[in-house]
Amino acid sequence: MDNNLVIEDAATAGFDEAQVPLYYSRKTADILHKYGPGPRIHFHMGMFEAGATPNTTVSQRVIRRRLLESQEAVLHHAAASWGVPAAPPRDLLDIGCGVGGGAIYWAQEYGTLVKGLTVTGEHVPIMRDLVRRAGMQNRVTAALGDIHDLREQHAYDAAVAIESSGYMDRERLFSVVAKALRPGGWFGIQEHFLCRPEWTDFIDGYYKTRLGTLTEYINAAHAAGFELEQDEDITDRVAEFWVQSMAWTTAELENADRTGVPSPIRRERLMESERTHGKLFRIWRDHAVETRLLLFRLGDR
Ligand SMILES: C[S@@+](CC[C@H](N)C(=O)[O-])C[C@H]1O[C@@H](n2cnc3c(N)ncnc32)[C@H](O)[C@@H]1O
Repeated sequence: MDNNLVIEDAATAGFDEAQVPLYYSRKTADILHKYGPGPRIHFHMGMFEAGATPNTTVSQRVIRRRLLESQEAVLHHAAASWGVPAAPPRDLLDIGCGVGGGAIYWAQEYGTLVKGLTVTGEHVPIMRDLVRRAGMQNRVTAALGDIHDLREQHAYDAAVAIESSGYMDRERLFSVVAKALRPGGWFGIQEHFLCRPEWTDFIDGYYKTRLGTLTEYINAAHAAGFELEQDEDITDRVAEFWVQSMAWTTAELENADRTGVPSPIRRERLMESERTHGKLFRIWRDHAVETRLLLFRLGDR
């Protein structure tokens, strides 16, 4: 399953790629606790109805369900926009698949054969377990590797990168994906894009990313032979996710105080998250960063 992947060090100037799997190894248990129990567990922002501000003075269970529903709502929305229900890809590469919520989603909803690729070793056994729980062993495989080193050629009809391209070197990303796709293949991306550079250090520091601008993505995509087919700004519809996520964290702290049973997530981490979420909400509300759904398609070349 992993035979076409060569795992190599891929240092890029100014960005320490080794930090990414370390960051996620430390974070995986927290992700499972907050977004579990699965089997579809996602780690990306979710989408709400335009203008919707659901009441947060509800139980933590309700908030948790809402977070999951919003995460799946953005996948449904992307799938519909990208034409997946009418023409589901047979083979899809899920780049930066986390613990596989999206990979299982594409397989269960559209019958697609999915390879999920993550650079974080800890994700792989967890994802395989979740795939088994979902009964998708015949359709979903979990592979450990760095996308920059992908060597596959003409192996997929489509690829997606849901809030993972922000960790990657875009020129290399588009170049390897162009080779891995069959002619006419598409590449769907959900990502955050920098609009006001003064926020770059704060966001990249918090998430260990290297977010880019939309122009940078489009240039890298063109150089690799892709054409931009769709560009949807979903910033206003995902901003609410910060409010709901913050409500979950506040409830987690309050539960621990009330019951005396500590959360499995470290208290300092929860407090930092609570504080940071307010700032993140304002950054999104002000469009200092924008979240977009992009669809690229390989041209004739
Ligand atoms: C924010 S998580 C998103 C996970 C998943 N797409 C989801 O929506 O739930 C980012 C993921 O990208 C992966 N990742 C980051 N850099 C990568 C790389 N160079 N190659 C492969 N995966 C990478 C991380 O291991 C992590 O699983």
